[in-house]
Amino acid sequence: MTDTGEARSEPAKDRKPALEPAVIVIFGITGDLSRRSLLPALYHLFKDDMLHADTVIVGVTRRDVSADDLLKDVELCVNEQDGVCDPAGVQKVRAALRMFKMDITDGGEYGRLKDEIYTIEEKAGVCMNRLYYLSIPPQVYAPIVRFLGENGLNGSCNHGTAMSRLLVEKPFGFDLDSARELIDETSTHYREDQIFRIDHYLAKETVQNILAFRFNNPIFEPLMNAKHVSAIQITASEELDIEGRVAFYEKTGALRDLIQSHLLQIMAVVMMDKPAEMNSDAIHGAKERLLKEVEPVSADAVDDNAVRGQYEGYRDEVKDGRSTTETYAAIRLNVGSDRWDGVPVLIRTGKALDAKRTDVNVLFKQEDAAAGNGQNALTFKISPDEGIELNLVVKKPGFEADMQPVPMDFSYQRSFTDAHGHPNAYERVLVDAVRGDKTLFATGDEVLASWRAIQPVLERWQRDDTGLETYPKVSSGPESATGLAERAGTVWL
Ligand code: BG6
Repeated sequence: MTDTGEARSEPAKDRKPALEPAVIVIFGITGDLSRRSLLPALYHLFKDDMLHADTVIVGVTRRDVSADDLLKDVELCVNEQDGVCDPAGVQKVRAALRMFKMDITDGGEYGRLKDEIYTIEEKAGVCMNRLYYLSIPPQVYAPIVRFLGENGLNGSCNHGTAMSRLLVEKPFGFDLDSARELIDETSTHYREDQIFRIDHYLAKETVQNILAFRFNNPIFEPLMNAKHVSAIQITASEELDIEGRVAFYEKTGALRDLIQSHLLQIMAVVMMDKPAEMNSDAIHGAKERLLKEVEPVSADAVDDNAVRGQYEGYRDEVKDGRSTTETYAAIRLNVGSDRWDGVPVLIRTGKALDAKRTDVNVLFKQEDAAAGNGQNALTFKISPDEGIELNLVVKKPGFEADMQPVPMDFSYQRSFTDAHGHPNAYERVLVDAVRGDKTLFATGDEVLASWRAIQPVLERWQRDDTGLETYPKVSSGPESATGLAERAGTVWL
């Protein structure tokens, strides 16, 4: 895997997806997610003409905000190389954006929204794909999905084949039961092929590459099993704290926020069997099978297999001196399939830590190697230094037979010099939803299997605060996480 630095990605503009016109209705357009991620992604897509020219964004809000005010207030160009906006790009997104004032909790208002969409389609003279993007607190998903369904906003204009699609952000539910209820309610109004459950980690180029790497480099596949792998570690550490998102975080915590969703999805991509075909259905089938093989930690073994922590100052921040919400979580799981049974899968995540780092380490058994010489490991670096690294043991030059571990690495930045050649995760999410490609979204079965895997830990942690360890900000997290790895016969990389 020598990185010559010679590969070049094609500029993004040469790889435009051929998309049909769409109406993208964003519920919660003035909210945090929309400002930070959706609007910058839309700006970039409009600027580079990635979407069909007739695409319209309908920004739903109950507030009196004009499109100009909203755009003035958003850092549209944070993802640009130089952080500078292209005025023509801003103009394009501005021209596509219309605000629509309504109270989304009032079912009687949805008829007006439907009329608005018909008016847009009539003006364009085509039936358009309709995307309803729920960028709103999860507690209000269910009634809104019902109002959309009851008002016929799950269909499309009568004479066309365009589709209505629902885009929902995680968390999908609060635990196994509420996720099941939410999935049932949603499926009353939308078919599964209309529901796009967003997991923005799946849309990261580096996560997609795990799949591509595994099945296009068959030399590694024979090693990906319990015979050769000693442990799998998945880490998502963040320097950021909860950044004032008190209400959201107090209800969520690290286990729900990252492990149930992003990190179990990554685990599935790393450990699933090769899909029969590389299409959305087959990939989801393989992921679902893997996730269903995860053995939920038994209730009485939770304390040995899961660790939680809270950063110092968190309770002051959330103004609750007794909050037991974890800002750090680590868990050990077993995938009970013939292929993986017995390989400890360690997953950890935390806020306010000393580094931003997301990666997966596949550690290989060293039984036949001379002891103490380091360990073969395959590392998928998801961020920030995107790439893949293979840790090998080599002889140090010299008269002695000294060995040394060395990394052989592939870096996206060095190999693909057009930093904007790959779309960011939200650009990818939007484009795939417009074109109806569900590969990078989570299915209902995946979501349920992920909740099932962590449910005993949720229940145990809810009972009392045993084991909740306070850790200093800008540290590596609670010390008990070290013990968790040791009990699994490994050390965190
Ligand atoms: C979100 C979580 O899903 O992912 C946030 O709700 C977290 O708490 C974020 O900060 C991390 O995403 P990324 O892409 O910055 O690693």
